[in-house]
Amino acid sequence: MIVAIDGPSGTGKSSTSRAVAEKLGLRYLDTGAQYRAITWWMLSNGVDVNDPVAVADQAGKPSIVSGTDPLAPAITVDGIDAGAPIRTQEVTAAVSAVSAVPEVRTRMVELQRAAVSGAPEGIVVEGRDIGTTVLPDATVKIFLTASAEARAARRSGELNGAVTVAATRADLIRRDTADSSRTTSPLAKAADAVEVDTTELTLTQVIECIVTLVEEKRTGS
Ligand code: DC
Repeated sequence: MIVAIDGPSGTGKSSTSRAVAEKLGLRYLDTGAQYRAITWWMLSNGVDVNDPVAVADQAGKPSIVSGTDPLAPAITVDGIDAGAPIRTQEVTAAVSAVSAVPEVRTRMVELQRAAVSGAPEGIVVEGRDIGTTVLPDATVKIFLTASAEARAARRSGELNGAVTVAATRADLIRRDTADSSRTTSPLAKAADAVEVDTTELTLTQVIECIVTLVEEKRTGS
C-alpha cells in the first residue's frame, strides 16, 4: 500500500500524512524535509543557493538519512540531527531555489524510492511530485488544496503568530509559484489523484476522508 499525498504548503499535508500512516500501520516519509535538509547543508557550507550550477555541483555531497516512523520522523545530515535547523526562515526562503535544480531532484528521488523499497508494510509519502513523478504507480493518490487565506492562517498559527498572516500569505504564494512553475517535476495534481479541498474541513475530517479512501482501495469496494 503506497499512499502519495501532494499539495502546496499549509494544506495540513504533514499532520494529515503522519496521522493517516499511524492509523493504518504504515511508514511515513516527509520529502519536503529532505529538500529542506539539502538546502540547510548548502547554506551551512557557503554554497550560493541562487547559483544552480554551484548547487548542482555539490548536490551529491551531503549524506541525508530520513527515518520513516510516523510517531517520530527524524532526519540527519552527515550524521547530525537536522530536525530543528531545517525549519528556520532562512531555509524556508532558500528551499524553492535549491529544489528546482534537476541534480538535487534526481538525488532526492533516489532516496525517496529507496525508502519506499525499505517499507514492505506500506508507506505514506508526502510532497509535491509524488503522484506525478516519484511514485506514479502509488496505490492511492491524494492532492490536498485549501484557499490561500486558510493556508496562511494555519501556517501563521504554527509559527505562534511570530510572523503575520499577511507576510505568511505572501511567502506561501511566492513558494507555490516557484514550486509550480519550475521545469523539473513541478507541484502538480496527478490525473488520477483525488483532490481534497481542506478549506472548510477540520484536520480530523481530512484524516478520516483519506483513511476511508485507502480502506476502500484495500477492500476493493
Ligand atoms: O513541504 P515543505 O514546505 O516542507 O517543502 C519544502 C519545499 O520543498 C517546498 O517549497 C518545495 C520543495 N519540495 C519539492 O520540491 N518536492 C517535494 N516532493 C517536496 C518538497
